[in-house]
Amino acid sequence: MQAVRAHEGDVLRFETIPDPEPSAGEVVVELRVAGLNRRDLFVRSGVFPFPLPLVPGSDGAGVRRDTGEEVVVFPGLGWGEREDAPAPGFGILGGPRDGTYAELIALPEENLYPKPPGFSWEEAAVFPLAAVTVYRALFSRGRLEAGETLLVLGAGSGVSTFAVQLGVQTGARVVVTSSSDEKIERAKELGADAGVNYATTEDWPAAVSELGSVDVVLDSVGSTWQQSLDCVRPGGRVVVLGGTGGTEVTLGVRPFYFKQQSLYGTQLGSPRDFEGLLRMLEDATWRPVLDSVRPLSEAEAALERMSAGEHFGKLALAIG
Ligand SMILES: NC(=O)c1ccc[n+]([C@@H]2O[C@H](COP(=O)([O-])OP(=O)(O)OC[C@H]3O[C@@H](n4cnc5c(N)ncnc54)[C@H](OP(=O)(O)O)[C@@H]3O)[C@@H](O)[C@H]2O)c1
Repeated sequence: MQAVRAHEGDVLRFETIPDPEPSAGEVVVELRVAGLNRRDLFVRSGVFPFPLPLVPGSDGAGVRRDTGEEVVVFPGLGWGEREDAPAPGFGILGGPRDGTYAELIALPEENLYPKPPGFSWEEAAVFPLAAVTVYRALFSRGRLEAGETLLVLGAGSGVSTFAVQLGVQTGARVVVTSSSDEKIERAKELGADAGVNYATTEDWPAAVSELGSVDVVLDSVGSTWQQSLDCVRPGGRVVVLGGTGGTEVTLGVRPFYFKQQSLYGTQLGSPRDFEGLLRMLEDATWRPVLDSVRPLSEAEAALERMSAGEHFGKLALAIG
């Protein structure tokens, strides 16, 4: 089959490699489209030090070779029985196990779910990892409810576009931050109520607070924990799921406990979270925001676009 693999030295190659051999309980899927995530950049560069060569990619949609069913891939491997955290040994598709930047993939049958009705191949391929992460962050961890206000940091990220859409679908008021006025306007088109440009506003947490009380903050930036706690109301919740802006912070401890705030960590989601997300998608009038679709052979250019932060929404690679 043809696939894109990451090799030593931050190198990607489009090449012919052996077809995957399914183990017991696994199924081969003929992939139609793969979706990109920031994780793929970490796999390629060695920040996530998996053995190479490796096929990156956690997201994809295609056709089961045994039954002909159209499926999406749930990228969590071995979550386990608990809902509060995954079991030891939990992993994500696309490192160390070969991922979706390929014509074929062999996967445990329980990782395959029906393609949502009405979704194109591209829309189906790009939502699983980011949208299940947001679903768990907002609802299973953050307990966001209708009528509450959600602040989403970094409007342009793939994660953020799903956060705006799922937040609005559940009846929350959504506010965003971004380094780009254009991205704020696009977030408003998705249903966000207001936005603050964190690059041009000196004290952006104060500007956010002027827009009204915030109940839940979704923080995928990492370096912004203190600002997130400054923005959220006493008793509010900050849910953290990324470190795009940095992974070390200094926090003021006293205001945090005086204000009775909560800080939650989260990663991906359980199969139950994914099933909850699929139920929400049945009633959704929105579709995943597609930034761009390129052929699989142009994976490098797609990753460069994401790395440069030029995108809004999800990037996809057409395979079949
Ligand atoms: N825990 C998990 O399971 C999980 C799953 C998926 C993703 N993630 C993490 O979530 C993050 C987002 O992922 P993604 O793939 O959606 O990312 P992405 O599309 O690459 O977007 C990154 C965005 O972060 C924003 N940003 C960067 N620095 C910022 C700052 N100082 N303040 C506010 N925003 C800032 C920028 O938004 P603007 O361009 O609008 O300024 C940028 O576009 C990554 O850290 C990723 O690793 C975690």
